[in-house]
Amino acid sequence: MGREFNFGKMIHGGDYNPEQWLDFPEILDKDIEYFKKAKINEVSLGIFSWSVLEPCEGTYNFGWMEEIINRLWENGISTILATPSGARPKWMADKYPEVLRVDADRHRNLFGGRHNHCYTSPVYRDKVRQMNMALSKKFGRHPGVIGWHLSNEYGGECHCPLCQEEFRRWLKEKYGSIDALNKAWATTFWSHIYNDFSQIESPSPRGESGLHGLNLDWKRFVTDRTVDFVRHEAQAVKDGGSDLPVMINMMYNYGGLNYHKFKDVVDIVTWDNYPTWHKGPESLTAMDTGMQHDIMRSILKKPFLLMESCPSATNWQSVSKLKKPGMLRAASLQAVAHGSDSVQYFQLRQSRGSSEKFHGAVIDHYGGEDTRVFGEVTEVGEALDALGEMAGSYTSAQAAVIYDWENRWAMEDAAGPRNKNLYYKEAVEKSYYAFRKLGLDVDVIDMEQELDSYKIVAAPMLYMFRAGFEEKAEKFVKSGGKLILTYWSGIVDDTDLCFLGGTPHGLMEVCGLRSTEIDGLYDGETNCGVPVKGNGLCMTKTYTCEHLCDLVRTNGAEVLMTYGKDFYAGMPALTCNSYGEGKAYYVCADFEQGLYDELYRKLVKEAGIKRYVHHIPAGIEVTSRETEDALYLIVQNFDPESVEVRLPKGPFTVWYGEYDGTVKGFDMVVLKKSK
Ligand code: GLA
Ligand code: GLA
Repeated sequence: MGREFNFGKMIHGGDYNPEQWLDFPEILDKDIEYFKKAKINEVSLGIFSWSVLEPCEGTYNFGWMEEIINRLWENGISTILATPSGARPKWMADKYPEVLRVDADRHRNLFGGRHNHCYTSPVYRDKVRQMNMALSKKFGRHPGVIGWHLSNEYGGECHCPLCQEEFRRWLKEKYGSIDALNKAWATTFWSHIYNDFSQIESPSPRGESGLHGLNLDWKRFVTDRTVDFVRHEAQAVKDGGSDLPVMINMMYNYGGLNYHKFKDVVDIVTWDNYPTWHKGPESLTAMDTGMQHDIMRSILKKPFLLMESCPSATNWQSVSKLKKPGMLRAASLQAVAHGSDSVQYFQLRQSRGSSEKFHGAVIDHYGGEDTRVFGEVTEVGEALDALGEMAGSYTSAQAAVIYDWENRWAMEDAAGPRNKNLYYKEAVEKSYYAFRKLGLDVDVIDMEQELDSYKIVAAPMLYMFRAGFEEKAEKFVKSGGKLILTYWSGIVDDTDLCFLGGTPHGLMEVCGLRSTEIDGLYDGETNCGVPVKGNGLCMTKTYTCEHLCDLVRTNGAEVLMTYGKDFYAGMPALTCNSYGEGKAYYVCADFEQGLYDELYRKLVKEAGIKRYVHHIPAGIEVTSRETEDALYLIVQNFDPESVEVRLPKGPFTVWYGEYDGTVKGFDMVVLKKSK
């Protein structure tokens, strides 16, 4: 999928649950007035409405929704319509218990909560199909409806007998024979050989939990089952007569699903963003959030939507922190800076009861517009109006960092070389941050994506090589790319079997070295990397490393730094190998950020990547978006105080915001130049 959609404007809106106050019709009138004042042009409707839409089996009650969609549309407000499968009515769970999820201990859940359904149950699939088709028939061609919000935050897994059967079928299709599966999973270990697919059970704390191949395939299966369910939902919407874009709202760093696998079943990537601002330095939260935006954008490499964000305090976090003045606008516009065509909130009006009654909202229980939060939301609306022509513009990154979900699963499951935490995400962040501090746009991709369009690719801690990564990486370097590999790379294949014959598998020649051993360091224990005199990259400083130290034997690579301590003092800690037209770097240990900053500054310069802002103070973010005709250079300040920063002149003009040599606290400036 991934069809082209440009809404022609920035969307400003969010989750709206009017079924919670149908008894108070005057509320809708007031809300519509407020929405217009805050320049809200969209609502996401019906996300948890099933028990109102179908109060008893087969009896549909769509009238209230029709009225609301009509009223909104008459007032210039569009609807992104949800399918309500994220939560279901009690009657359904009572009559058809198979719709409820079974946990890994093989206990079936009781009715309750949400996101508590089996993805296989034929009854649930049928009920969802009927509902989605009915909604699509009724509203799919309504001029006010612009897209489908399928379900809500898909996630979790079901271990019921129906899912077990599907899992066995999935494995049979993947492996063909039980012998092939036994080999791939190394089942001779601890005498776990299977004679038949029918013997296989999903992982369980009460049963098989340490068979890495099984664990990995189960996670892949859960992703595939969920993708299949999304496809089923989307097909029902289509069969009901609607051809509008379908979307699913994804979550921050969610480990339960490989989101890249959804690229063929959604038209637009959308996600829900709840950072803990004001906890640490704002600049760090901004980096972390920026990386999530970039992960989401990189799935389809197209504009995404920020489907949910909180207008003030998020009540499920340990502390419900208010956003300080200006923070909401800065956080919202950061999404746009990284490629979003929307800013949407959870929620437009605060619910009166139950677990989200204290969650931040555009309109709170007071029910008026003269609140601080409403004022800030209005400012976001005004900014989005002004930035409207950027909708549909794309991000063109010359640098990429690989952050691979399946690699993450495998590494989290592996016993050793450090248990509890290998710091994979942190390793990815170090490369990402180093690029971002230089103002580069960065794609954050997985191992299945192509490398050809980049000049420089960082591939930290790729423990698992899969999807032909070795061949892609070799070709990339050979034809002039700069590749950064690190310690603990190329160790296992895609079923978590160790490669024989040396690591990093398939790239020893490209890197000009072989990894021989890896040392796990105790918490608090450190080593360091000392620059080699006269090294080709002019590395000049000594940097600390911790957690993991890879001991490599070079075979052609130039040693840029060596370890400073322990029995491996003097052995390589950072290397570079010329291969074909390009170069492969190998970072042997988990170094502090400073090493990445120095290394990447040099490599980016060498790679000739254009940078528009040369000195970027902490807290300043530089990104860009492009159309065929124009380039927008976006500069945001996440510091509450004004910060001096020198921006380019010449063909660039200040297109949005104020700039007088400084960017004001929490403010944004957009420069534009024609191409
Ligand atoms: C115990 C077990 C062995 C092996 C080792 C690993 O001693 O008996 O089978 O698991 O631990 O240290
Ligand atoms: C998630 C859900 C919403 C709501 C918000 C609260 O993003 O999708 O329904 O619960 O969290 O922050």
